Amino acid sequence: VDLGQNVGYGKIILLGEHSVVYGRHAIAAPLSLVIRADVTGPAHTSELTITGWDSDPAAHNPAGAQLAERVAKLIAQRLGVGDLPVHVDVVPELPRASGLGASAALAVAVIRAIVHHFGLSVSDEAISQLAFECEGLVHGTPSGIDNTVATFGRMILFRRSDAGNEIRDISTPVSIPVVVGLTGVRSLTADTVGRVHAGWQKNPQHYEAIFDEIDGLVMTGLDALTRGDLSALGEVMNLNHGLLNALQVSSPELEAVIDLARRSGALGAKLTGGGGGGAMIAIAEPDRIHSVANTLDVAGYQTYLTEIRTNGNGKL
Ligand code: MEV
Repeated sequence: VDLGQNVGYGKIILLGEHSVVYGRHAIAAPLSLVIRADVTGPAHTSELTITGWDSDPAAHNPAGAQLAERVAKLIAQRLGVGDLPVHVDVVPELPRASGLGASAALAVAVIRAIVHHFGLSVSDEAISQLAFECEGLVHGTPSGIDNTVATFGRMILFRRSDAGNEIRDISTPVSIPVVVGLTGVRSLTADTVGRVHAGWQKNPQHYEAIFDEIDGLVMTGLDALTRGDLSALGEVMNLNHGLLNALQVSSPELEAVIDLARRSGALGAKLTGGGGGGAMIAIAEPDRIHSVANTLDVAGYQTYLTEIRTNGNGKL
């Protein structure tokens, strides 16, 4: 069994989560952490089955397993093999409910596994679109950024639009070291997206102004990335985090780990993804990044080192 080729990438949002749902720009990059899937044989029942999604016992969650099954069934149906009893095995390297795009990566891996097993011909655009539909099951109003990065595995500038999403590759002259730190608190993106929506309904002008401000930071960050200016990028990450806090999607646990990262030499640190718990990212100069990661490790946080590079292959 080769669980090698049917991969969905995890992602970090460098700048612009949440406001991206409201049509503003965001920048995201793939992680070296992926989800793999393969069709491993006929199911023992008459319908599609899926295992492995809940292989992390600490995370055992029947709702999660059920969700994986609903996602896999939707995929099989859309690909025209919904009546066939197949068994899909999933190997998740990515922690779930941590803002790292695990649900989109799951969808992409399962789509690729089924496409590959049945010898179907499906374009990457169609894979991303189907994963977007699956994301709709997970949380009602996805922007489309997670499924795009999960499919293409490249660093992108993204903007949602009904007339067709803007998706642009970003290049940077230097690779930028990143520490991902998990708060250890699981948080569902559906919940924080809902919280922002409720706030926006109550205070549309103020929320729109914050979204515009974040959009401006994303464009400044794009310029900093393109020039390879780590300290300018770090500064806009810090400002973006302050505005995410204003949107009330931070948490005491996120604030604690972000503060620790900044005090240990990070140039910028912010929550990434949905927030409310989940993960933070920090960037630092290449000669400081290990010490930032080490400080977080010693404080008991689970960390991953990755880097942002041109063509987005944040793969180590
Ligand atoms: C989740 O990774 C990013 C959010 O902006 C939601 C979305 O874009 O669908 C919070």
